[in-house]
Order: sequence, then C-alpha cells, then structure tokens
Amino acid sequence: MSASTSVSASPERILVGVAGGIAAYKAAELVRRLRERGVQVRVVMTENAERFVAPLTFQALSGEPVRTSLWDSAAEAAMGHIELARWAQRIVIAPASADLIARLAQGQAGDLLTTLCLASEAPLFVAPAMNRVMWANAAVQANVATLATRGATLLGPDEGDQACGETGVGRMWEAGAIAEAVLEPRPDPAARAVLAGKRLLLTAGPTFEDLDPVRYLGNRSSGRMGYAIATQAQRLGMDVILVSGPVSLPAPSGVRRVSVRSAEDMREAVQAHVSGTDVFIATAAVADFRPSERSDSKIKKRGDGGLTLELVQNPDILAEVAARQDRPFVVGFAAETHDVERYARDKLERKRLDMIAANRVGDDGCGFDADCNALEVFWPEGRAPIGKASKTQVARELLGMIAERLGELRT
Ligand code: PMT
Repeated sequence: MSASTSVSASPERILVGVAGGIAAYKAAELVRRLRERGVQVRVVMTENAERFVAPLTFQALSGEPVRTSLWDSAAEAAMGHIELARWAQRIVIAPASADLIARLAQGQAGDLLTTLCLASEAPLFVAPAMNRVMWANAAVQANVATLATRGATLLGPDEGDQACGETGVGRMWEAGAIAEAVLEPRPDPAARAVLAGKRLLLTAGPTFEDLDPVRYLGNRSSGRMGYAIATQAQRLGMDVILVSGPVSLPAPSGVRRVSVRSAEDMREAVQAHVSGTDVFIATAAVADFRPSERSDSKIKKRGDGGLTLELVQNPDILAEVAARQDRPFVVGFAAETHDVERYARDKLERKRLDMIAANRVGDDGCGFDADCNALEVFWPEGRAPIGKASKTQVARELLGMIAERLGELRT
C-alpha cells in the first residue's frame, strides 16, 4: 500500500473574485496575505462589490489593474476574460454572496467574474459570507452542494458575530485561514472521494487532572498533531468534531471544537458525539490516572513530610468507542519510547482498533510539543511508515491511508 499524499505544488498566480457584501473589506487583507507569500494576485470585482470597497484599494494592494466589467473595451479587445481565466492557477471568491453562489451554481455568465469562472479550468475556492438565516436557507444550501459536487472547495463559513448584529453561522473565514487553504497543495482526490461528507470525531491535546484549585497532573501534548488532522480532514470535505483538551491553539476554521479539561470530561464529550460518526481518531494524550480525590482548597505543606497521592484509573475512551455496536472506523495513536511495533500491535488487538499510528517519542525532537512527527502505522494485515515531516504533511498522509483502508473495506 502506498501513502496517498497531495498532488500538486502551491500556486503562483491566484485570481481573487470579490462579490458584493460587507465582508468585501476582508478581501483586501486576503490580497495582502497572498502577496506576502510571494503570490501574484489579480482581482476581479462584481458591480456590487464596488459599493463596499473601491477598486483602487485592491489595485494598490495587488500591484495590478483591477477588472470590474466584461465590457472593458481595452481588455476585451484581447479577450481579457479568457486571458484571465487561463492566467489563474486558482480562483478564490471571497466573499461569496448568496447571489454569486446561485449564479455560479446555475452556470450563469452575466458578468466578468461568473464568465471567467465558467471559462477557467483552475480549481475554484468559495468563501461564503452572509446572514445566518440566508446561509441556512435550503436554496443556498442546495447551490453550495452543487458547487461542492462539481469540485469547488468550500472555505467556511464560520460561526460568530455578524455585521448585521446577529450571531450564527455565516461569517467569512479570516483572511489568513483563506490564504493558507488556497495556497496548500490540492487535497488528494482519491482521499477526498472516500472521505468527503463523512463525519470525523477526534480527540486532541492533553487532559488535566485536578489535584486542587491550582494544581493538576498533565502532560506535554500541545494538540498540534490532532489539530493538523482536523484541519486536513476539513479540507477533504469531512464534517469534523474536535474534542480538545486544554491547548493554546485556535479552533481550525470550519471545525466544531468541544473544549474539555479532564479525561472524564473528554469521555463525556466523545460519548455525546460518537453516534453517527464514520471515523474516530484518538490523538489525545489522555491521563491514564487521576487523583482519587480533588481537594476544594489548596493543599498545604505539612511540616517537612512529603505528600502521597492516591490515583485511580481513568476510563479508556478509545477502547469504549471501539467496543460499541455501531462503531466507526477506529484509529488510535501510541507514543512509545522502544519496542514500537510490539506495543503498538498489542494496543491494536487489545483495544480492537482498525488502525494505530505509533510515534517513537524522545528520538529526534519529533512527537510531543513539536512541529514535526514521524509515524509507523499498523493495521491488522499490514503496516506503512510516514517519514519525518511537518504535522500538516503527516496528517495528510495518515488521512490518505485511512481513506485507502476504508475504500478496501468497502469493496
Ligand atoms: O499534541 P502534540 O504535541 O502534537 O503531540 C502528539 C502526540 C505525541 C500526543 C500524539 O501523536 C500521540 O502519540 N498521542 C497518543 C499519546 C499516548 O500516550 O497514547 P497512549 O499510548 O497513552 O494511548 C493509546 C491510545 O489510547 C491513544 O490513542 C489515546 O488517545 C487513547 N487513550 C488512552 C488512555 C485513555 N484513558 N483513553 C484513551 O482514549
């Protein structure tokens, strides 16, 4: 079996399409972010977008003339819309209004932006922004689903405060998150074909087991491995719920995060969300033990004597999910310092997992609280390595393996 990975390099020429909406001002920040990364950017605005931001803003930020009309005689004499459609290596529409999404879904070509989208073979990214009730409307959802079916990548929207004063889902992703998503290598189409639309539940980070109001037992997990998997799974079109222990990372865009503290909290959150899950991945470094009692007040020094703590075992969240009648595809992690295969295979069998990803910790600066990782992945009939790489790349390869394995089990 070969690990599935990304299929093409980052683009150098990106066309930003700006539709009419209050989030149009955030598109200016997006252009800056893309330029900072050395990308050539050209901007096309709809007529309504010009009501919110002046083309001059985008011209100054992109260093290129901004196109606003299909009827620009100078540009169109040289078939400007076709030239733009061929020039773009990726097209990102931010903000994408309900109206623009509808016109794209219908294949309309009434203005420059929709025309060049029809005429281009470049991958299309759509970052919706609209009032929460509009976003929830069945017509909008049907149009978005049509675009996704045709291969467009949906970036958001997020949940939060909206310009209209309401709170809910409909806020455009932040410019940095859009830039990052558009610049990433294209997700592996084979992995996407298997995983898109599937629900992923995953645990990440450490758990903190409180001793008293100011002290706890914890570990060095930063959450980065789990958050990287959540981000990449979302990009593959999965519906992701991330149950996270205490970490200092922001929630990945488009991912539902449930924040917890202790192993018992994590178990409760997993049990609450596991039904209907297709894939469960346990990256969390869950404390195996917790203090048998939590003191309500700060434990004081008692003379020169030491302190003996009594610990009790925590529930095994992963084993509980694997024991369910309606079990999803279950992937565990293992952090081992030696005898990696023996311990990992033991966990695979004992906890009845479909797959286990083992990291050798303490070896080469990877694993706990690091930006890189390296895994040896085992399943009942096989194994495959994922070489030392960024956690983002490791996450891509692991998801590729899960997709392959799920595909094999389906056939
Ligand atoms: O968070 P980072 O800094 O990015 O680091 C990532 C990581 C090193 C923490 C991660 O890659 C990793 O290896 N996670 C598993 C850590 C571990 O120590 O696992 P374990 O051998 O204790 O447990 C085995 C598996 O059972 C794990 O999937 C764990 O989530 C799960 N488990 C363990 C105990 C328990 N009570 N409940 C569980 O679900």
